[in-house]
Amino acid sequence: MEAKKLRILTGDRTTGRLHLGHYVGSLKSRVELQDVYDTFILLADIQALTTHFQNPELVHVSIFDVAIDNLSVGLDPSKVTIVQQSAVKAIAEMTVYYSMLVSVNALRHNPTIKTEAKQYGYSELTYGFLGYPVSQAADITFCNADLVPVGEDQLPHIELSRKIVRKFNDTYGTSIVEPQAKLSEVPRLSGLDGNAKMGKSLGNAVYLSDTAEEVAKKVKMAVTDPARVTVSIPGNPDICNVAKYHKIFTPERYDEICSQCRSATIGCVACKKILINSLNTLLDPIRERRAYYEAHKDDVRDIIVTGSRKASEIGDAQVALMRNAMHIAI
Ligand code: TRP
Repeated sequence: MEAKKLRILTGDRTTGRLHLGHYVGSLKSRVELQDVYDTFILLADIQALTTHFQNPELVHVSIFDVAIDNLSVGLDPSKVTIVQQSAVKAIAEMTVYYSMLVSVNALRHNPTIKTEAKQYGYSELTYGFLGYPVSQAADITFCNADLVPVGEDQLPHIELSRKIVRKFNDTYGTSIVEPQAKLSEVPRLSGLDGNAKMGKSLGNAVYLSDTAEEVAKKVKMAVTDPARVTVSIPGNPDICNVAKYHKIFTPERYDEICSQCRSATIGCVACKKILINSLNTLLDPIRERRAYYEAHKDDVRDIIVTGSRKASEIGDAQVALMRNAMHIAI
């Protein structure tokens, strides 16, 4: 008999289209994981509202954009379950039950909450924003996910989820699965401007939905070794941002490009041309799938609705179990 597949759940906030940083850090590995694990992909629209409640139009279009980003990189809707967070009522209900088990102080000290609060310039935190890690614990555990593929910034949230589950199980005698993080091994992709992070809000991102021309334009603007003001001056790939990109996106020619840079036999313009080509070669099949889904928005909607319905059934069963265990089912 075939062993039961472990379940993974991961997701993205629906606050904008996904970019190359997301691709390198998580989307690419999702494509491989879908064949090995029972895969759930969450469109985290409630979590999106915690920071973007004043921009509901963006959150709305991003539900589709992020779903299409996931599908266009090669996630197969016949293999994975794509779930809209707000469509799964069990997540909201579980969030309330879990909230009894978490202290406000633990949330205040969560390093990711602190970083994000600073990033958004919040002087005061809303209840929803401060509490989103609790909601994320519900995201992960409504379906008893075993593993959660995430980047390092999400580790405090997974740790909190584990604590909540342990406390719930200890208190009520349930056996909700304690999830484990599956850390992405890929270092964070820097922005084209040299900023340590490629970010939607930082204006330095290459989107999976960018056209070939947009990619070319962005790469041409990218910062390189600032000391290399003319082609005849040898460059230093160790400090060049474009070289970092080649390492990831042109690995087979990385050494050659670096040595040509050091000996000033290739200039930044030619070097960038190679990168533009690498990125567009990677993005072309993604663009092709995107074009299909953009032209078949009803299919995308069906995929999300079907996935969310399946998730709701699973979540409802989980909630029923929890209500029984808490003695509030009558
Ligand atoms: N917090 C995650 C992010 O900002 C998104 C997310 C929401 C998530 N719910 C999740 C990730 C559940 C993993 C599991 O990227």
